[in-house]
Amino acid sequence: MSNVARVAVLVSGRGSNLQALLDAAADPWFPADIVRVVANVPGVFALERAAQAGVPTSTVVSKGRAREDFEAEVLAQLGEVDIVCLAGFMRVLTGAFLDRFPSRVMNIHPALLPAFPGAHGIRDARAYGTTVAGATCHLVDNGVDTGPILAQGGVPVLDDDTDESLAARVLAIEHRLYPMCLRWMAEGRVTVEGRRAKVKLLPGETRWLGG
Ligand code: GAR
Repeated sequence: MSNVARVAVLVSGRGSNLQALLDAAADPWFPADIVRVVANVPGVFALERAAQAGVPTSTVVSKGRAREDFEAEVLAQLGEVDIVCLAGFMRVLTGAFLDRFPSRVMNIHPALLPAFPGAHGIRDARAYGTTVAGATCHLVDNGVDTGPILAQGGVPVLDDDTDESLAARVLAIEHRLYPMCLRWMAEGRVTVEGRRAKVKLLPGETRWLGG
């Protein structure tokens, strides 16, 4: 990896996590540049956010296509990148794709993994009746939301929460976690031993954000 890591972000929707990464990367001291945003759904707001920030975008439609075809086209659009960030990207990537970026594909998930993986982390946590919810930033492996955990953060679940109100508080945690973890990755401070990610923390840094 050169001094400044080249990062691609894959998105499927409104892109608020993408925005958090773009905002962080706008700081000239941030150790990563976002060089490409790829959406698998046409016209999503995340594409507008990227364009606003002057980042090149591509749309590669996934619906109704074989995963291999879709991923081959995404890879072609990515070009040379060091790190791939999934930010509200609602597709599972194959092992063949992940092998191109070993331990360098990151994801943000709106639950305290390993609880509530999948597409409905917030709804599932509320339905289960947990008193704490949160977000996890992790590396992506062949499973669904199962890769080594980089950092997590939590918020209380309130009696009068709706899915929307809880999601909003969890999202605020996501927006703090993701740039922090991308910094660690870009600075080469993350190593992986089996299931566990290890991070060389600087004074004052923490892998748990309370809320
Ligand atoms: C975020 O809450 C993210 O954690 C979640 O989708 C939302 C996307 O919001 N991802 C997943 O559930 C992946 N399993 P955003 O487009 O505003 O970043």
